Amino acid sequence: MNTINTEKIKKDFQIFKNKPNLVYLDSGATSFTPDIVVKSMDEYYYKCRANTSRGVYELSEKATQKYEKVRRKVKNFINANDESEIVFTSGTTASINLVAFGLKDTLKHDDEILITASEHHANLIPWQRLVNNENLKVLNISSTGEIDLDEFKNKISKKTKVLAIAHVSNVLGTIYPIKELIKIAKKNNPQIITVIDGAQSVPHIKTDVLDLDCDFLTFSAHKMCGPTGVGVLYGKKTKLDKLTPLFTGGDMIEEVTFKNSIFTEIPHRLEAGSANISGVIGLGSAIDYIENIGIENIRNHEIKLLEYATNKLKETFGDEIEIFGPIDTKKRSGVISFKFKSYHPHDIASILDSYSNICVRAGNHCAMPLHNEVLHVLATTRASFYFYNTKKDIDIFVKGLKKVEQILK
Ligand code: ALA
Repeated sequence: MNTINTEKIKKDFQIFKNKPNLVYLDSGATSFTPDIVVKSMDEYYYKCRANTSRGVYELSEKATQKYEKVRRKVKNFINANDESEIVFTSGTTASINLVAFGLKDTLKHDDEILITASEHHANLIPWQRLVNNENLKVLNISSTGEIDLDEFKNKISKKTKVLAIAHVSNVLGTIYPIKELIKIAKKNNPQIITVIDGAQSVPHIKTDVLDLDCDFLTFSAHKMCGPTGVGVLYGKKTKLDKLTPLFTGGDMIEEVTFKNSIFTEIPHRLEAGSANISGVIGLGSAIDYIENIGIENIRNHEIKLLEYATNKLKETFGDEIEIFGPIDTKKRSGVISFKFKSYHPHDIASILDSYSNICVRAGNHCAMPLHNEVLHVLATTRASFYFYNTKKDIDIFVKGLKKVEQILK
């Protein structure tokens, strides 16, 4: 395990040079992009700007090679069995919708889907559309942001067709014991399909799909130093093969007549239309960048920041601040959502920005039911960290909150 040299790392990002006083604590929403990733995308536009899989000329072949190379890179990054199990999408939301729509025809009237009460809307609404209310089962979340394994065991039956759960909650930061949950789920129902929302986990913790034994994993490039508008759907070959394509059109077919179409094999069967080629290339470069730092080092750095921030916030504000989610930092990612006195999160976030150059997110973070029905607050303020954050950022953040107090008291 190596210590992360944040001073050196910050030099990799033009945005820190442009805005040297910026304290960016919103990587849960989207991360910064190092110059090398931007450059890799520029290079595509400057040197091999052509469509993939469609031309026999050199430029197109070069673009295709670069694009397909990233598929291999993603496969290795998450330890999938085969690169055909990697489908490129526009992001986590698109990936989950692809799975939900793809399973639609295979669901029976009384099939159930199990989610948790902390899911992001992207891992809730697609399932709401598949089954009626009473068959969408919701697992409770405790006051410390955890789930009860006994309740989980009881809720998985032969009727549970799908378990859809985030590996890490984007609000509570909880790292759910996914491997254990999948094991239990498959024991109770060997036919169950497990869909893991990895948007908040893949950028921060080592993710090994074979070890987890999940059927599907979804994540986005923009939360892991890559560009916006690109994501991944991983699926076990046997499961991807059974998905009905949500999108149909160019490049996903074997043969088309005016009356009928025969679709091609995965992954192209699920990638209709021209791809976000530069975006995928950027994702490949982002993976290289992250691997160079080391995902274990990233996790370790975030634990230290989390411990430092939690202690400092508690020492400074005591009971005036309520932090949601697990107390144990080993069970938690670098996310701190909180309530500060009775101040409105939007006021807190605006003052932090205006007076101290601090970016945090305020609102329900696309998890409205969690806020309304579990945390019983309309909104929270969320600070989320990545490997480029420092203890100094936390000090400025705590100072910024003191300013908030001064202004709003
Ligand atoms: N899902 C992202 C977040 O939690 C946008 O902020």
